[in-house]
Amino acid sequence: MGPKYIMEANFFLCFLLVMQPLYNLKTINLSHSLNLVNTPNFEGMPHLKFLFLAGCIRLYEVDRTIEVLERLTVLNLKDCKNLVLFASSVGGLKSLKVLNLSGCSKLKKLPNDMGHLESLEELHVNGTAIRELPSSIGMLERLPLLKMKDCRDLVSLPISVRGLKSLKVVNISGCSKLDTLPEDLGHIECLVEVDVSGTSIQELPCSIGMLERLVSMSLRDCKHLVCLPSSVGGLKSLKDLNLSGCSKLDKLPDELGHVACLEKLDVSGSGMRELPSSIGLLKNLKHLSLARCKAQAPKSWNMMFNPFQLLRKRSHIPAGLSLPCLSDITRVSPREQCMGRG
Ligand SMILES: *[C@@H]1O[C@H](CO)[C@@H](O)[C@H](O)[C@H]1NC(C)=O
Ligand SMILES: *[C@@H]1O[C@H](CO)[C@@H](O)[C@H](O)[C@H]1NC(C)=O
Ligand SMILES: *[C@@H]1O[C@H](CO)[C@@H](O)[C@H](O)[C@H]1NC(C)=O
Ligand SMILES: *[C@@H]1O[C@H](CO)[C@@H](O)[C@H](O)[C@H]1NC(C)=O
Ligand SMILES: *[C@@H]1O[C@H](CO)[C@@H](O)[C@H](O)[C@H]1NC(C)=O
Repeated sequence: MGPKYIMEANFFLCFLLVMQPLYNLKTINLSHSLNLVNTPNFEGMPHLKFLFLAGCIRLYEVDRTIEVLERLTVLNLKDCKNLVLFASSVGGLKSLKVLNLSGCSKLKKLPNDMGHLESLEELHVNGTAIRELPSSIGMLERLPLLKMKDCRDLVSLPISVRGLKSLKVVNISGCSKLDTLPEDLGHIECLVEVDVSGTSIQELPCSIGMLERLVSMSLRDCKHLVCLPSSVGGLKSLKDLNLSGCSKLDKLPDELGHVACLEKLDVSGSGMRELPSSIGLLKNLKHLSLARCKAQAPKSWNMMFNPFQLLRKRSHIPAGLSLPCLSDITRVSPREQCMGRG
């Protein structure tokens, strides 16, 4: 951003201060104003709908009068790397649909009354320093996405998340300090995708099995994960389960065989030594990845595949039970590595 633009931004600010009140102002775009340290007082701009402050790398404080902006719909503070004080109260922002704080790497706390942002549809807090979400967040019944990738200081999600009734996607991948998920996670009925890759969780809450609409669950590189609850058998819609890199995970629950829709199962690089025999019931399984798994001897390799062999040999098949046809599996990868040095 050249000096010309900075000058324009400063000029614009002066203009704002001198010409107040600016009743009809709808948009302020001061994005990439490299010298902006704080924002003007917002009291004279009741019609403001868009406030763009992305990339204002010296911005330290958003004026607390921001809460008077009842018509504000988009507030973009993306990559304001020095933002420390972001409004202590936002309850008055009744129209706010998009709040972008991603990349505000010094921001440690969100306002306690976030839950009053009754119109909020997009919340981006990727790459912030927040440790937890305010518990009022559970009041955001319309929020469809919770993307909190790479919040490296985040330690937990509040119990109140079960109130997020419209939530379809939870992506908290890369939140490496997060070690537990709320027990009530399974009560968010609409959930379709859950990505908790790279977190420090040791287990999943049992309630997870209640998520009948869940299609994709990603637990890549959850190095502390030791087991999956047997309730996973209830995941009626699950197609994609990625457990790659879960190096402590050495077994899967038998109930996994009840996840009839499962198409992709990736346990590459996990601690898996054998697969449950019920795996043979997964008639829709197309992709099974066992690369870099722990089984070292050919014997263990056989144990991995026993489930398939057993089922293929059986002549009488109970009604309602289908056999997986190994030829339908497009990738079982790569065999040599799994057989190891045995
Ligand atoms: C705001 O201004 C910046 C810099 O001129 C420009 O790149 C950006 O597209 C503008 N944003 C909006 C939403 O108008
Ligand atoms: C907010 O940030 C996210 C993630 O960085 C980005 O995908 C999204 O387009 C941004 N939205 C706005 C309105 O700037
Ligand atoms: C998330 O934030 C990090 C750090 O600011 C950034 O490097 C990354 O590109 C962001 N990802 C998305 C999808 O915005
Ligand atoms: C979650 O975010 C990560 C990092 O941006 C991305 O690679 C992954 O695909 C996302 N997961 C889902 C389910 O969208
Ligand atoms: C599982 O995640 C790993 C690591 O991101 C990726 O390489 C692999 O393709 C994923 N597996 C499937 C079946 O999508």
